[in-house]
Amino acid sequence: MTANPSKSSEERHVDTSALWTAETKADPFPVYSMMRKEAPVCRVVTPEGFEIWMITRYEDVRQALTDPRLANATEHAPEWLRSLGLVGEGDASLGRHLLTVDPPEHTRLRRLVSKAFTRGRMEALRPRVQRITDELLDAMAAGEEADLIESFAFPLPITVICELLGVPGEDQDDFRGWSRTILTAAFTPEGMAERAGAGRSMARYVAGLIARRRPEVDPAVPPGEQPDLISGLILASEDRDTLSESELKAMIRLLLIAGHETTVNLIGNGMVSLFRHPDQLRLLRERPELLPGAIEELLRYDGPVDRGMFRYTTEDVEIGGQRIPKGSAVVGLLGSADRDPARYADADVLDITREDTGHLAFGHGAHFCLGAPLARVEGQVAIGSLLARFPDISLACDPSELRWHSGGFGVVRGVEALPVR
Ligand code: HEM
Repeated sequence: MTANPSKSSEERHVDTSALWTAETKADPFPVYSMMRKEAPVCRVVTPEGFEIWMITRYEDVRQALTDPRLANATEHAPEWLRSLGLVGEGDASLGRHLLTVDPPEHTRLRRLVSKAFTRGRMEALRPRVQRITDELLDAMAAGEEADLIESFAFPLPITVICELLGVPGEDQDDFRGWSRTILTAAFTPEGMAERAGAGRSMARYVAGLIARRRPEVDPAVPPGEQPDLISGLILASEDRDTLSESELKAMIRLLLIAGHETTVNLIGNGMVSLFRHPDQLRLLRERPELLPGAIEELLRYDGPVDRGMFRYTTEDVEIGGQRIPKGSAVVGLLGSADRDPARYADADVLDITREDTGHLAFGHGAHFCLGAPLARVEGQVAIGSLLARFPDISLACDPSELRWHSGGFGVVRGVEALPVR
């Protein structure tokens, strides 16, 4: 689809129809490279006819993520997004949460949440992450072949985030279904209805969980040391300010979604990248001390969050020499930014010894991923243990047969299944 050149005289337009093909889902980097060169800030029209501005160069994306004229608050969203019920208080949205508010509301929410969701709490989970990992790998060892997503990459983070929040094990499969639907359902009337249904089910469940937990919370224990995060969030306060019931519900739903599908695909995409680069796989197996840096490189090279969340222009804004009109939906292509040759030498080369960090896989600025320390622990334990336990692990199909998902213009990109030997 060719962007309409009539809007602005200086606008550079380019055919971006390839963005929506199955080939691009599997490998978006050639299209991103073309966009960075030809139209680095580009107005595209989705197959559904919605207009989005895409930013593809590293410096532009980084700058946009700290530009106060690009708001997260959905009251600035264009009409087409509102009419989908995707933003605001509609069932298909998660309500007002960290990613849909701006300072000072964002600063207040983030400060409160950080009282309960401390770095120490995340790092303290390492032994538990290791135990869950070992149990899953034990089960995998019983067979010759396995789907790494189904038997490992999916259950690990869902178990971790549910345990962290205090969601009972028997309810965890429901969460996979709901969060997958919310993240990947198509932007059609049917897809929106599915998304709204999943949103309602999750909202009902979370409300019940909070109601059960509230009377049991011991106010003498600081929020960061409560037995689970929901109890911590119930107690989190500053200057007698606490999270309201609706803020609490939105926050828990956000954590369940943000903390799950992303980490599944850190493990999935990370292993696909290593399988495609046997020299790097061998190097990591031989030198496990490279693991922390390798996880950062895997996040840069093919991270799970391909596109950041929408931002909305509160006035006309110029980015990379391109004017974006007030009221537009703007998205930074993190996957493209992290392959920008203007930022990284040999940007398309996977090099687990790369020391040049600063990737945007966890975002940048005020909305930088709250769960990054936990995601890093999970990625390191998961991939490190997998390679230590199964040194000869290999892909059981041709890489070209892998099916990639990223529903609608969904933010998360990964493989549906990953058969391994
Ligand atoms: C925000 C990526 C894991 C919770 C973000 C953003 C990105 C991101 C790119 C910013 C989005 C934007 O500004 O548009 C990732 C990746 C992960 C991961 C790649 C795994 C590899 C997690 C985990 C949790 C989590 C495990 C929680 C348990 C959040 C929250 C925010 C966020 C709450 C919103 C922060 C704010 O708006 O202040 N994440 N994430 N994420 N992430 Fe993560």
